Amino acid sequence: MNFKLYTIVSLFLLTIFFSCEDPVEPMDNGVDLSSISYKPEVYTLNPPFGFPFFEEPSDNTLTVDGVQLGRHLFYDPILSADSTMSCSSCHLPSGSFTDNKKVSAGIDGIPGTRSSMSLMNVGYFYTGLFWDGRVNSLEEQALLPVEDPIELHNQWPDVEQKLRILPLYQELFRKAFGIENSNEINKDLAAKALAQFERSLISTGSKYDRVIANQDVFTDEEFLGFDLFFDENTDVPDAECGHCHAPPLFTSSEYFNNGIDSVSDISKLSLLEFVDPGLGAVTGDTLDYGKFRSPGLRNIEFTAPYMHDGRFSTLEEVVAHYNSGGHPARNLDQNITPLNLNQEEMDALVAFLKTLSEPEFLSKEEHSNPFN
Ligand code: HEC
Ligand code: HEC
Repeated sequence: MNFKLYTIVSLFLLTIFFSCEDPVEPMDNGVDLSSISYKPEVYTLNPPFGFPFFEEPSDNTLTVDGVQLGRHLFYDPILSADSTMSCSSCHLPSGSFTDNKKVSAGIDGIPGTRSSMSLMNVGYFYTGLFWDGRVNSLEEQALLPVEDPIELHNQWPDVEQKLRILPLYQELFRKAFGIENSNEINKDLAAKALAQFERSLISTGSKYDRVIANQDVFTDEEFLGFDLFFDENTDVPDAECGHCHAPPLFTSSEYFNNGIDSVSDISKLSLLEFVDPGLGAVTGDTLDYGKFRSPGLRNIEFTAPYMHDGRFSTLEEVVAHYNSGGHPARNLDQNITPLNLNQEEMDALVAFLKTLSEPEFLSKEEHSNPFN
């Protein structure tokens, strides 16, 4: 090809290329929102008596409108690439904000490797989020599912674009964050609002809380379960649960190997031994292989199946696991040891776990889908 012809062909191809560029999306000046009133009002949480001090990040304190915006985003399938799924698809109120599946699958139906986690009291978990603690804050976490290929499989710039043109979100973002123009709607504000909504998902109070406040009494069976759980009575065996599932949140927020996976050689911990190395994959420390964050046990009755991979379908199976002493490993926690409980005692532990239930939490209006 001679040079002249080459140039002409190239120019021709370039012209085609550029004319194929999306003709819409002109320089957009956005919508002026300053006429919508911005009056931030503090959102008050009412945790049960005895709950710890609630730490909010100083640059994202809860407001009524911030929580409202987060609630809309949480339930809005606009966050997913094909508008079929939202956060709530895997965190349903009826499952105490889990999906009651062994492992969750995203918009393409590809199953993940972990079970969805309850978001109840999630604002109190300061020692890392996810089963393995790989993320530090709710704001940071909220950015991830949108672009995760096995979750919402979308791109934030596309989501931002969609949110900016909707009058509903123009108003909600203005009220929540006082932005002046719809172009200021962005993923960081969306993540802040999602985090605010999640922080509002706190306990409403359970039978356990009423008993502690002298407003109710345990049945004999529940009381036996309480004694077992907290090693309270020298006449019954210690079930050791309270060390890792400490009240009031029923978690110590620490990471443990609770013996659910077997290793062939307990003198050394090899990454290959674990289907999911948990905390070990985050820290790189072999002694962290197979460690996961001890989850809070409030509303545990409603969040089956159990453990990071949903391996146990019932609380009875969970208790049977602990009773067995679990699988040996070099980093198995010392509180995981054969308990020698009889059937009556195992049933009592399950009865006690059910006193941590707060059915009201599952259908609270302010946590529900605002689009219904
Ligand atoms: C496809 C299902 C799915 C979707 C969609 C999803 N999640 Fe999750 N979520 C999970 C799973 C599974 C885990 C546990 C993952 C892990 O440990 O690796 C999780 C964990 C979390 C946690 C950590 C909780 C804790 O106690 O550490 C938060 C917070 C959370 N999700 C919030 C959200 C938000 C906000 C959205 C929407 C932006 C969302 N999720 C969308 C499945 C999903
Ligand atoms: C050494 C600390 C430790 C002790 C002791 C312990 N647990 Fe756990 N528990 C954990 C950890 C860590 C997990 C999460 C493990 C995983 O998912 O791989 C867990 C998970 C659970 C779950 C499943 C939670 C969910 O959301 O899926 C239940 C239920 C539970 N424990 C109940 C108990 C009971 C009852 C006892 C006493 C018999 C007990 N635990 C003793 C650390 C402990």
